[in-house]
Amino acid sequence: MNAFAELYGRPAEGEWAAPGRVNLIGEHTDYNLGFVLPIALPQTVRARVARRDDGLLRLWSAQSGEPVTELRLADLAPGAVPGWAGYPAGVVWALREAGHQVGGADVRLDGDVPGGAGLSSSAALECVVAAAYSDLYELGLSAPELALLAQRAENAFVGVPCGIMDQMASMCCRPGAALFLDTRDLTARQVPIDLAGAGLALLVLDTRVKHDLGDGAYAALRAGCERAAALLGLPALRSLPPAGVAAALAQLPAELRPLVRHVVTENARVTEAVAHLEAGRPAALGPILTAGHASLRDDFRVSCPETDLAVEAALVAGALGARMTGGGFGGSVIALVGAAEAESVAAQVTSAFRAAGYAEPRTLTAIPAEGARRLG
Ligand code: GLA
Repeated sequence: MNAFAELYGRPAEGEWAAPGRVNLIGEHTDYNLGFVLPIALPQTVRARVARRDDGLLRLWSAQSGEPVTELRLADLAPGAVPGWAGYPAGVVWALREAGHQVGGADVRLDGDVPGGAGLSSSAALECVVAAAYSDLYELGLSAPELALLAQRAENAFVGVPCGIMDQMASMCCRPGAALFLDTRDLTARQVPIDLAGAGLALLVLDTRVKHDLGDGAYAALRAGCERAAALLGLPALRSLPPAGVAAALAQLPAELRPLVRHVVTENARVTEAVAHLEAGRPAALGPILTAGHASLRDDFRVSCPETDLAVEAALVAGALGARMTGGGFGGSVIALVGAAEAESVAAQVTSAFRAAGYAEPRTLTAIPAEGARRLG
């Protein structure tokens, strides 16, 4: 008997997978309706699922170490489901709220996206359930529609005011490509990125720290950006052209100026990075990544001593560029390195961490992988 049948006493109807992501550049631009450039990781959350017609949603996760969580669809409401189960439950709630005729399910989750590492394990969890439900209940929803429902689950059900990048990355990325996404209208282009062909590799250094102030600070930064846009009479900071920044800054209270500067310069870094990739110059991403980190550290102030040290140590070890990825306050750093140097850069970052008294970072290699899909 397979693991699903052992758990639920009947076979699954199928298995789906949705990946975590790293963002190459374009951080904190998504809720400002700007550009982002994520790639999907080979690491995924996987769901085996079978429908139920008795109004129950049963959830089990290999990573949680908890028994099956049993929920009544009729009881699903924002804030009602604590912990990891809130993400899958929120997706089912969002589907029903949007008027889709979906019932319950038995769901068995497993995966290898590190949690709390800034690699979007929660978006992967939402997206795998959204993709499974769309197939099982024959909803015929597109990948962007499912990404929006997953984001709604996180915003309205779990209560995290995230943007759309992580869900779009998990749903829409393609192997060998970065997703150049305009978050204002969700138009997207797959930009080929052949790191191996250029003798390069992208290291992911998970600092294994997550500073507590992250959740409240994210919401506060988002509110600050929205306030700045409103004061400037703009629908979103994305609408401010780089040439207009100096004049705009002069009109704003001092505490909002660095936020605006980060968003405008970061948005420009995304289009610059895409131009280099499309011209077949992936190594040129290096200085763009490093400039992005400086902006997140000095202007947006979402880095922390551990991510700053990982970036610095990677650069000293010969990385072409490095930056924190994701929301910040801990999490992971990406470093663009010569493929032959990957091991020694990882080793030097590890010894810098040891010398600083930090726990050893976990190291992965990011190979641009496929978005959400049915496995069987
Ligand atoms: C988190 C959010 C995303 C995005 C990033 C920062 O990952 O979920 O929507 O805002 O932070 O770029």
